[in-house]
Amino acid sequence: MEPFRIKMTEPIKTLSAGEREIALKKAHHNVFLLDGEDCPIDLLTDSGTGAMSSQQWAALMLGDESYAGSRSWKKFKNTIQEITGMANVFPTHQGRAAESLLAMIKVKPGDVIPNNSHFDTTRANMQFSGAKTLDLLTEEGLNPASELPFKGNMDLQKLEACIREYGDRIPFCMITVTNNTGGGQPVSMENIKAVKRILDDAGIPLVIDACRFAENSYFIKQREAGYEDKSLMEIAQEIFGCADAATMSLKKDGLANIGGFFVCNNDEWAEAFQNLLILKEGFPTYGGLAGRDLEVTAVGLREALEYDYQVYRHASIEYLMSKLDKAGIPMMRPAGGHAVFLDARAFMDHIPALEYPGIALVNAIYLVGGVRTVELGTVMFGHFDEQGKEIPAPLELVRMAFPRRVYTQSHFDHLVEVILEVWENRKKYSGYRIIKQAKYLRHFTCHFEPLGN
Ligand code: F0G
Repeated sequence: MEPFRIKMTEPIKTLSAGEREIALKKAHHNVFLLDGEDCPIDLLTDSGTGAMSSQQWAALMLGDESYAGSRSWKKFKNTIQEITGMANVFPTHQGRAAESLLAMIKVKPGDVIPNNSHFDTTRANMQFSGAKTLDLLTEEGLNPASELPFKGNMDLQKLEACIREYGDRIPFCMITVTNNTGGGQPVSMENIKAVKRILDDAGIPLVIDACRFAENSYFIKQREAGYEDKSLMEIAQEIFGCADAATMSLKKDGLANIGGFFVCNNDEWAEAFQNLLILKEGFPTYGGLAGRDLEVTAVGLREALEYDYQVYRHASIEYLMSKLDKAGIPMMRPAGGHAVFLDARAFMDHIPALEYPGIALVNAIYLVGGVRTVELGTVMFGHFDEQGKEIPAPLELVRMAFPRRVYTQSHFDHLVEVILEVWENRKKYSGYRIIKQAKYLRHFTCHFEPLGN
């Protein structure tokens, strides 16, 4: 059962099937363009959408809004130093600000940044500074059906080959825990340590994209031999102990609605980062956040490492997966940390890749049950080759990301009913074509038109 009770409620509007159809049409069949209040269950993202605890709301009132050296900053810094063990801590307004400043201080045109899988903002920030970005995920990580426990692992042979090929053009290597774009799959401690050893031999620093470090720590405790008796805090400390620096979006495992940070051991990196932080985000003791946000995230980071909270979070995802599994729904397996990822290519196998089966599935789920999900497939990750031909993404997933501590088991039951209904009638759904799109990050704003029917 949920390890909390509810003290405050927020009503959700229910829409009729006809109202949902009108809303989706008005949004040009792109769920990013829907109004939030037209989505009774909103699984678009787990980022910044969580519910705060009573302890966090209480902490918010303690916010010290001093411009420099506030009490709230000290709590923030002490908490992050305890978890990461890193000397230099910098708040940012969210994760991508930390990525952007890191790219500005360390990345130059022609550089190469390896990662298990870059999240889209990380990739965009590295590329914006002129770098080539490489995803070095293991082959199993790309196979939705594989049941391996650590499908977020980096492929060590690919990493060694990358270092041989690009050597001194690699200013740092990243590893994303958990691997969001590959299904929220975890990275094992063994893999993180092996990556670090290879990088140390080549003199390349390791930067962790730590958005979901607490969920990854829980997976290590559950699935990796030797960690069953360690606390999540100890495991998190061991993860960060392998890194030279980290970027973090506190909108995920900070259990907050806004916030981020950058941490590093190297004082030269810290000085360069600090100078840009002042220019772009704010004075180093608040970095784009209010004192109350610093308070809230300091509490949230500890709550994310509470064992009972993680048990509940993972149990709700496994509950959903087991219900869908019984009906034979194709999904990314095993359960990820923050989301269930439907395999839209197999689900809508009558729709060709360039007619966007993921969008067909996302829109069907909205029309049937008012649930907003998101495509992580060809619209988001596809690309055009030199001849201008559209190349589909390797995976065609639909992500149902779960806001933290927001929905209850009966919301999940509704979701199951909706997906089963779409599954039974799947052949009646057709694909889409894009009638308007931006050059970069087109998924946010493009307009679709349904094909067929
Ligand atoms: N890295 C990862 C792995 C992420 O998942 C995100 C955000 C970021 C960096 C950027 O953080 O949003 O605070 O700037 N992911 C959200 C999502 C948006 O829906 O998966 P941010």
